[in-house]
Amino acid sequence: MTTASIRVGIDDLAFATAHNVLDLKELADHDGIDVGKFYVGIGQTQMSVAAEDEDIVTMGAAAARQILQRHGTTGIRTVLFATESGVDQSKSAGVYAHGLLGMSAHCRVVELKQACYSATAGLQFALGIVARDPSERVLVIASDIARYALDSSGEPTQGAAAVAFLVTADPSLIEIESPTGLFTDDIHDFWRPNYRSAAVVDGKYSLAAYLQSLEGAWGEYRSRGGVSFGEIDRFCYHQPFTKMAKKAHDRLVAITESPLDAAGRAAQIEDSLTYNKQVGNSYTASIYLGLLSLLENAPDDLAGERIGFFSYGSGSVSEFFTGVVQPGYRSLLRTEHDRQVLDARRPIDYAQYRALHEHVEAVRGGDFETAAQTAGPFRFLGVRDDMRRYEAREAQ
Ligand code: COA
Repeated sequence: MTTASIRVGIDDLAFATAHNVLDLKELADHDGIDVGKFYVGIGQTQMSVAAEDEDIVTMGAAAARQILQRHGTTGIRTVLFATESGVDQSKSAGVYAHGLLGMSAHCRVVELKQACYSATAGLQFALGIVARDPSERVLVIASDIARYALDSSGEPTQGAAAVAFLVTADPSLIEIESPTGLFTDDIHDFWRPNYRSAAVVDGKYSLAAYLQSLEGAWGEYRSRGGVSFGEIDRFCYHQPFTKMAKKAHDRLVAITESPLDAAGRAAQIEDSLTYNKQVGNSYTASIYLGLLSLLENAPDDLAGERIGFFSYGSGSVSEFFTGVVQPGYRSLLRTEHDRQVLDARRPIDYAQYRALHEHVEAVRGGDFETAAQTAGPFRFLGVRDDMRRYEAREAQ
């Protein structure tokens, strides 16, 4: 069989988020500013805040567990864990998740890093593995806790979430098309040296770099035979904050000289923003949370529609590609469950948020035990003898 004849893509997609939620009104009141700057200006209403006993591993495993409960583990010989907020310089967060999920030892597991972009690298690598052997299935987990310094301008654009998706032949959700367009540029718009728990960011520069990368990736996508703007029905962008997706889409409309009016532009992206507005930035997970949001919140049946994806990771690497929504996809969604997960988060006030933020720095570099604050399927117990310890609350 030639690779050209194999349809490959995303067969299932699930998400998890942190236990707590902070309404950005709490932050605006603390800062003494109009909350309109957050609700409207950057397009964020809330952000998920991790409890002491959760991290990227527990969230990633909680997202992946839903996939494995439905599809089993047969044929999964690769787990790709994409994250900016890795918990170890050497051991992949994916190996911890693999253990918690009780997966087969006959599996390759690695962590991928390039700011918010690496889940898309995971998707593309997975497509290659499946195209070579269509009996294989690849589990991609993207999980991040977006963390900026207290009292910095990046603070309202924090958040936390994980998505997991299964890449297979004959996918049931989205067939991913070729070609793709790539753009890499060695810049410092957002980065995090090893000794820091919060990102360093040049916010305004990062916005400009994102838009320049979009132009570069789109240009290469078209030069490699990609379809025209008018042949794409919806768009799904990396969302450090949801206003960024609007800015990006406006830029793409301008580049392509599309006659689309403001309402037409909004209709192409607005359903992809619903979940991200409430979760905040989830770095690597953000664009795929946007995809889940689009699939679960669009009132129309999207089967047959083509989605344009723009994935951006500061530093920077970006990619433009497309996928087609598959017939019958709606029966695979977990819409009620996902909305309930968002609604079930524990509201916290500014003081509680600040204490959790400070806790991360306070326990860095030594052994500690976490307080039991969450009720999810997996818990982060703390660090003993420099080893991170986790618990699965029930057998997987
Ligand atoms: N009501 C409505 N809108 C308001 C407002 C109000 N009361 N006050 C301000 N705004 C608008 C501004 O006009 C601006 O909108 P615009 O960008 O469309 O012009 C927006 O709110 C943000 O205001 P700004 O003064 O630019 O905010 P800031 O200096 O605090 O910085 C970020 C905002 C996003 C740059 C900052 O939060 C940041 O650095 N975030 C992290 C960086 C990031 O995510 N980068 C992307 C990496 S891919």
